[in-house]
Amino acid sequence: KKSEAWSARFSEPVSDLVKRYTASVFFDKRLALFDIQGSLAHAEMLHAQGILSAADYAEIERGMAQIAQEIGAGQFEWLLDLEDVHLNIEKRLTELVGDAGKRLHTGRSRNDQVATDIRLYVRAAIDDIGALLGTLRAALTDLAEQHADTIMPGFTHMQVAQPITFGHHMLAYVEMFGRDAERMADCRKRVNRLPLGAAALAGTTFPIDRARVAKTLGFDDVCHNSLDAVSDRDFAIEFCAAGALLMMHVSRMAEELVIWMSPRVGFIDIADRFCTGSSIMPQKKNPDVPELARGKTGRVYGHLIGLLTLMKGQPLAYNKDNQEDKEPLFDTVDTVVDTLRIFADMAGGISVKPEAMRAAALQGYATATDLADYLVKKGLPFRDAHEAVARAVRACVDAGCDLADLSLQQLRAFSDLIGEDVFAVLTLEGSVAARDHVGGTAPRQVRAAIARVRAQLAG
Ligand code: ARG
Repeated sequence: KKSEAWSARFSEPVSDLVKRYTASVFFDKRLALFDIQGSLAHAEMLHAQGILSAADYAEIERGMAQIAQEIGAGQFEWLLDLEDVHLNIEKRLTELVGDAGKRLHTGRSRNDQVATDIRLYVRAAIDDIGALLGTLRAALTDLAEQHADTIMPGFTHMQVAQPITFGHHMLAYVEMFGRDAERMADCRKRVNRLPLGAAALAGTTFPIDRARVAKTLGFDDVCHNSLDAVSDRDFAIEFCAAGALLMMHVSRMAEELVIWMSPRVGFIDIADRFCTGSSIMPQKKNPDVPELARGKTGRVYGHLIGLLTLMKGQPLAYNKDNQEDKEPLFDTVDTVVDTLRIFADMAGGISVKPEAMRAAALQGYATATDLADYLVKKGLPFRDAHEAVARAVRACVDAGCDLADLSLQQLRAFSDLIGEDVFAVLTLEGSVAARDHVGGTAPRQVRAAIARVRAQLAG
């Protein structure tokens, strides 16, 4: 007796190499619990529609409960010969409950079955990632609150630009991760549709109730075209695109952490538990976690392009190519989930060195724009003010001093509009406090932004 579910039509068995090449069980077995969930919803509907007897449905429920238990206990025997997760579970069900198990696949195909499993899987992943983004945003917001007044240089072109607060800088990432959460939530709407009922590609001759299955599985609606339902994976690609954007944000932050922890910069330290040493250089403490996150971003981008390419040449409807959707998808989820978890944790392990930040902010004429704004407020057109301050900066560069080191008399050489009140404007505290509007770096605004984020996270 041949083992394949479909082998009756064939006159010779496939070679071992072909078996291995076409099998997916060793990676798609992680869909097992979703597969069981989908099968139970399908069987319940078949029974409600009078297609499956009450006794058969009860047997299927009993068998599936045992299979779930065996899988949970690591006792389930996965067989390569049975190709994929679906056939492995169906075969075991039939071993356990006999003919009832053989009736489960009525009105269904592995094509709509696997599409359903993946949607359940992606939906769960989106929910996990949404929660983790919330945790990360909360952790970064706590860090922002501790440093709402901590001044650091803000950079453009990696050159000192204007003073900002570290709290404000952290909140920039809180905003980015907030949009990532929105994108995930939006993607979920298109993931949350039921393919079951599409069967192989054209639908089924049985009087099924798709809406009932959709409701049981928590889907918002059914897929409205059977060919589309079994063949497209755009929802998975969209999820990976949202994941790629998210990782891009993580990677930018990782890059900053690496730079900030470099002894040349010394803005922060990262707790030892997130770093590793060198096997040759005894003094080393390396920021491996952010570096790896930066590196892993590349593989998530790769999965996105892989999936886009996987789909682009496929005529309707299902093709076996689609079996290749799983490993990139799973790896994307694993990478994003692990990275978010570790970053949320690491946020609490970042210690800020305010003196180093302050010292850096005092170099590079970070308050030059404030001086120009000051002159504008005294009536000078902005372009003229810009020029006057540029000349002052150049004089300071030549003299090797800061703007605030110039005397009033020296400053007045660049504009006689400058008065005694200029020195308050040239301080770092004055500079940040003056940017006091929604989205600005003033500590008051940082605190308001923190309150806004916290209300959002709570609601
Ligand atoms: N293992 C397959 C997949 O992942 C399940 C669907 C197979 N259907 C088929 N007719 N070969 O896509």
